[in-house]
Amino acid sequence: MELGVSCFFHSLHDLTPFLLFAAIILSLTWVFLYLLRANLWCNCETCEAYLTLSWTKQFHNLSDWYAHLLKNSPTKTIHLHVLGNTITGNPDNVEYMLTTRFNNYPKGKPFSTILGDFLGLGIFNVDGDLWRFQRKMASLELDRFSIRSYAFEIVHFEIEQRLIPLLSSVSGSNHGVLDLQDVFRRFSFDTICRFSFGLDPRCLEMSLPMSDFAVAFDLASKLSAERAMSVSPLVWKIKRMMNLGNEKKMKEALKMINILAQEVIRQRRKMGFLNHKDLLSRFMRTVSDEKFLRDIVISFLLAGRDTVASALSSLFWLLAKHPEVGSSIRLEADKVLGPNQGPTCYKQLRELHYLQAAVYESMRLYPPIQFDSKFCQEDDVLPDGTFVKRGTRVTYHPYAMGRMEAIWGPDCLEFKPERWLRDGVFFPESPFKYPVFQAGYRVCLGKEMAILELKSVALSLFRRFQFQLATTYDTPRFSPGLTATLSGGLPVLVREIVTTTNHP
Ligand code: HEM
Repeated sequence: MELGVSCFFHSLHDLTPFLLFAAIILSLTWVFLYLLRANLWCNCETCEAYLTLSWTKQFHNLSDWYAHLLKNSPTKTIHLHVLGNTITGNPDNVEYMLTTRFNNYPKGKPFSTILGDFLGLGIFNVDGDLWRFQRKMASLELDRFSIRSYAFEIVHFEIEQRLIPLLSSVSGSNHGVLDLQDVFRRFSFDTICRFSFGLDPRCLEMSLPMSDFAVAFDLASKLSAERAMSVSPLVWKIKRMMNLGNEKKMKEALKMINILAQEVIRQRRKMGFLNHKDLLSRFMRTVSDEKFLRDIVISFLLAGRDTVASALSSLFWLLAKHPEVGSSIRLEADKVLGPNQGPTCYKQLRELHYLQAAVYESMRLYPPIQFDSKFCQEDDVLPDGTFVKRGTRVTYHPYAMGRMEAIWGPDCLEFKPERWLRDGVFFPESPFKYPVFQAGYRVCLGKEMAILELKSVALSLFRRFQFQLATTYDTPRFSPGLTATLSGGLPVLVREIVTTTNHP
C-alpha cells in the first residue's frame, strides 16, 4: 500500500511540469474568453469614466454619480458595459423584476459566489427552495403580532438601560465628541442578537471593546463588497487561491466569524430552544445541520444590524441639520403621548405619524442598501424597452430613485417629512418607487422591526438630547460596503436638554 502511494506521488512528480503548463494554458484561455464576454475594453463615455475614475472629479460617492446618470437618462436606465451591469431607477422596471418576472431575476450564481464565503446558504444569498424554506420559517415568526411586543421590550431595554445612560455620561463634556455611528452599530448588534438568537453580546457597554465578532463581521462585509466592485472576478479568485492580500484578511475574518457563530449555536442549544421565541430557536427545531445554522445566523445578523445602524446614522445626520424637524417630532410626541410620557407599547408608536414620515423621508434620501442586483436568466425586454441579455446583472438603485424629480417632484432633494402625510396621517408610497426595503416577493422581512427601532431611538433621544454635527464635510460620504456606512463615522457633540422633569 505504502509503495503504491509513493509510486503515485512519483508519477505525479513526473507529470508536474506538464500539469503546470496545461494549467497555464487553461487559465489563459479562460481569461481570454472572459475578456471577450465582459467587454472590458468598452470606451463609451460611462465606462471610460468608471475605469479612469474620472467621475470622482465631480462626485464624492459612486452612488451620486449613478444618480446623476440615471436622472439624465430618458428611460431612467443605464448600462455599465465593463461590469456587464444594467442599472435602473425606473419604477416600472423595478416592479417587473421584483414581481411580474420575479423568476427571471434571481440573485444568481455570480452574486452567490461573491458572497458565498461569507453568507453561505443563508437567506440573503440563495434562490429557489433553500430561499423559500427560510423565508417561510422566518415569516411564521416575524409576522406574529406578539413578536412586535417582544421586539418592543428588547429595544426599550436597550435604549433605557444602555443608550440613554451612555449619552448622558458624555453630555456637555468638553471633549465629548462621540461617534454616533459606532454607538448605533453597537446598539443594533445587541438588539438583533437578542431578537434573533436570544443572546446578549452587551456591545453597547462602551467600556467593553467592540466584540471581535463584530469587527470580523465588518471586515468580511467590506471585503465581500470590494469583490463585487472588481472588474473581473478572476482577480479575487486568484488571490483567494493564493491566500494573498484582502483574501487573506477575508479568510482570517471568516475564521473568527465561524468560531463565534458556532458559539452562538452551542449556547442556544445549551440553554434550550424548544420553547424560546427567538428566530434561531425556531430554525433549530427543524434544522440540525451546523453549517446551515451558521449561515442562517450570519444572514440575520447582516440583515438586522448594519441596515438599522445605517438608517439611524443618516436620520441623525439629517435631524441635526434640520432642527425644525426635531422640534416637530417632540411636539407630536407631547401631543400624542403626553408631555413627559414615553410609549408604553408598540401600538402607541404607530400613532406617531410625523415621526414615521421623518424616518421614511430620511431613508428616501439615504437608503441603507443603496442598490441591489439580480441576474437575468433568459433574454428579456424591460417595460421601458431596454433589452436585457441572459446573464446580465440588473441593478435597481433606491439611492438614485430617491433623488429623481420624475418620481418625487422638483423638491426631491429636500428633506421634507410632510411629503408622506395626508391630513396629518402617514401615507406610504408605492414600494416600487421606494424600494428601500426591496419590494415584491422578497420584500424585507424585518421592516416592521426596523421601523420600530428607528422610531423608538429617534423619539427617546430627540426628547432628551441635542446633537451638533462635528463632521468636516457638508454632505455624507460613504465607504464601500454591502450597507451604506459613513466614512469617518458620525462624530457629534451631545448635550442633554435640561427639563424640570425627566422625559421617559
Ligand atoms: C432599516 C432597516 C432595514 C432595511 C433598509 C432593510 C432592507 C432590506 C432589503 C433592501 C432587502 C433585500 C436584500 C436583497 O434581497 O438583496 C432586505 C431583505 C431582508 N431583510 Fe431587511 N432591512 C432592514 C432591516 C431588517 C431587520 C431588522 C431584519 C430582521 C429582523 C431584516 C430581515 C431581512 C431578511 C430576512 C431579508 C431577506 C428576505 C428575502 O430574501 O426573502 N431586515 N431587507
